[in-house]
Amino acid sequence: MIAEKMKAKLEGGSEIRRMFEEGARLKKIYGPENVYDFSIGNPDLEPPVEVVNALKELADNPVPGMHGYMSNNGYESTRQAVAAKRSAESGIDIAPDAVCMTPGAASAMNDVLHSILDNGDEVIVNAPFFMEYTGYVENHNGKVVIADTDDRFIPHIRAIEEKITPRTKAIIINSPNNPSGVIYSEEFLTELDHMLARQDHLIHVISDEPYIDLAYDGRIVPPTLKYIHNLIICFSWSKSLSLPGERIGYTLVSPRHTDYKELTAAIVISNRSLGSVNAPAIWQKVIERSINAKVDVSNYEKRRNLLYANIIDAGFDSVKPEGALYIFMNTPKGMTDEEFASKCASYNLLLVKGASFAKPGYMRLAFCVSEQTIINSRRAFFKVAEDLGLQHRASL
Ligand SMILES: Cc1ncc(COP(=O)(O)O)c(C=O)c1O
Repeated sequence: MIAEKMKAKLEGGSEIRRMFEEGARLKKIYGPENVYDFSIGNPDLEPPVEVVNALKELADNPVPGMHGYMSNNGYESTRQAVAAKRSAESGIDIAPDAVCMTPGAASAMNDVLHSILDNGDEVIVNAPFFMEYTGYVENHNGKVVIADTDDRFIPHIRAIEEKITPRTKAIIINSPNNPSGVIYSEEFLTELDHMLARQDHLIHVISDEPYIDLAYDGRIVPPTLKYIHNLIICFSWSKSLSLPGERIGYTLVSPRHTDYKELTAAIVISNRSLGSVNAPAIWQKVIERSINAKVDVSNYEKRRNLLYANIIDAGFDSVKPEGALYIFMNTPKGMTDEEFASKCASYNLLLVKGASFAKPGYMRLAFCVSEQTIINSRRAFFKVAEDLGLQHRASL
């Protein structure tokens, strides 16, 4: 007999499982090259050469004791490397003790939420958002409160402020955003900080930053440390170094956070007590040696351009993503997401419905698939558009 709360989670997870199974079924029938599965956000580039070299070097010249237990916040030398990088980017002096190494961003967020939430506390998120946040918040008996964004997926300070209650403990921001690809501006971050400073109780800003290295068209993602005072960063190398299966990331508390001392200590305890104990030792050592490496972002940018062109040229509408790995296109007017998804599936085009990101009326497409898949999918987008009576904007 499983817990009641798990029964609800089993139900909720079935949509993504169903998509996965549908993709596998179609690939068996039509061949993988004829199925355009944009549903899964699994970074497909290989890790950079610096990562591979660091792994080899560690295997050839093992540091004695390198597989042993360590401090729960990780190796001092790795935290030092992270702190130095973040200090240089933001101009804010970060100490190694601000950092706690974790198995990825998911673990980092659970450590943070466990450290700050009392039963019934509220956490504001901006729709559309990565729905795993709901599970993370509920793991620690908190409640997600959704603030909407505008039609370009920009959050508005007033919409966030309207959601604040005496129980609001934190707001989660995510830029570049999954699923919209939007990068939050310096102005937004500054205004958010000012608005929160006007409140009569402390509200933490949890900045989930796994996509900060994936920005396109020469865009620089504004460093949140520079703009937000009561900031806790959750980061991972899942995307920057294409290491999602290896589970490596960190939490970082801003030295300007009012509760800096207590919070950094609480996060380390959470990391241990929630079961991570410490982040994987080998990967901390690898990260330290390849701290400035990142995957070839131009590769993702090329695929974003190709997929975006398919969508727009066929006659659909979409905001152009500035970063991350996704396009969040509009569902054509007069159709439900279910109708559009099933029309797309009839041409082997697999997308994820906006409801999976608390924003119906849109579809998410992950462009971390092969360039050839994106090229091959163009015809399918055009066919769907023709069936719906949309005017193409370019030729096939
Ligand atoms: C917005 C966002 N946050 C967090 C995560 C979790 O990342 P990690 O692999 O570091 O746990 C993901 C994964 O896709 C994500 O998209």
